Amino acid sequence: MSEKEVGYRTRSVHAGQRPNELTGAVVTPIYQCSVYAQQSPGEFRYDYGRSMNPNYYPLEEALAAIEYASQATVVSSGVGAMTAVMTLTKSGDRVVMPTDVYGGTYRLFKQFFEKYGVRCDQIDFSDLNKVEDALRAGTKLLYMESPSNPLLAIYDLRALAALAKKYGAVSVVDNTFASPYFQNPLKLGIDIVLHSCSKYIGGHSDIVGGAIMTNDPAVREQMDFARKSMGLHLDPFTMFLMRRGIKTLPLRCERQQENAFAIAQYLEKHPLVERVLYPGLPSHPNHELAKKQMSGFSGMLSCYFRLSLEQSKKLISSFKIITLAESLGAVESLVEHPASMTHQKIPREVREKHGLSDGLIRFSMGIEDVEDLIADFEQAFDTVR
Ligand SMILES: Cc1ncc(COP(=O)(O)O)c(C=O)c1O
Repeated sequence: MSEKEVGYRTRSVHAGQRPNELTGAVVTPIYQCSVYAQQSPGEFRYDYGRSMNPNYYPLEEALAAIEYASQATVVSSGVGAMTAVMTLTKSGDRVVMPTDVYGGTYRLFKQFFEKYGVRCDQIDFSDLNKVEDALRAGTKLLYMESPSNPLLAIYDLRALAALAKKYGAVSVVDNTFASPYFQNPLKLGIDIVLHSCSKYIGGHSDIVGGAIMTNDPAVREQMDFARKSMGLHLDPFTMFLMRRGIKTLPLRCERQQENAFAIAQYLEKHPLVERVLYPGLPSHPNHELAKKQMSGFSGMLSCYFRLSLEQSKKLISSFKIITLAESLGAVESLVEHPASMTHQKIPREVREKHGLSDGLIRFSMGIEDVEDLIADFEQAFDTVR
């Protein structure tokens, strides 16, 4: 079976998975082992768990297959994936990213890599002229999220990839919010995709992991080297759970999207709601672009309420099914307040300038019965009316 020829659900279940040579086990067993015997010095299949382990390779085949990539490297977390990608830069280089990214990305780039001489500038990626100016002035990496966290901004990935190519920059997309089921940036010309696999790929709020996907073997080699040299490896049990999660990725994503769409429509009509940000709604400013470059809109949405900060906090603490928690992409519906949770490491003045006001609430819709989710919203709204 060539994975290139099979459908997405088939590749999610089967990619990289072969009956175990020794036992016939249908799923790859957990190799809970840190060190491997060598035939003679330097002659081995595996040497040490930080650089290689039999659990890496079937999983990486699956991770590559679900992003339509030829290469994948699995790492310790989404932040670990960003760290590995940043090893493509050196002191004096410049990274350019949009104003709306995960707070931990901002922290890693601005508060960590800038100390090592890699400058990181934030500009508006919906203005391609500004991006071109930045590239013309010298940029090593063009780094972006689309949809972005938490404003669900959609950027023109095909155009941005082409611009990066024109100026010899490397284009990188953090595809965590879309999931590899709904968007494959490599197909749009992007050079590198990364994921926090702690989210949709794992899908069950029980792992922390990350991955980098590319079609460039030299980039893959550098990612493997970064993993080994910087200690960005993942443990065998987490790799087992990640491979298991991938099997149901398409089913979960479909259901999460269905729920998110229904909730977005419900919220859009609610008197306490000022504005819903969901790329699947025709009211989203980039709905048409999202339709062009994504096959669906995922389970993420954000919302500005007509509530004071205190009322917003009361609302999100009053849900009985939707859990107040930082993460996303799980079977459980989650809610969070970016300004005081995922994005609080961004200075207030920067947050406010970029639309991350105190009134913004982010939802990650799970796979529960939508009637129960709507009833949960109703009872939570009753606490602030
Ligand atoms: C878009 C995005 N990228 C990366 C990360 C970081 O992933 P991890 O927590 O696996 O390090 C997050 C975490 O919330 C995220 O939302």
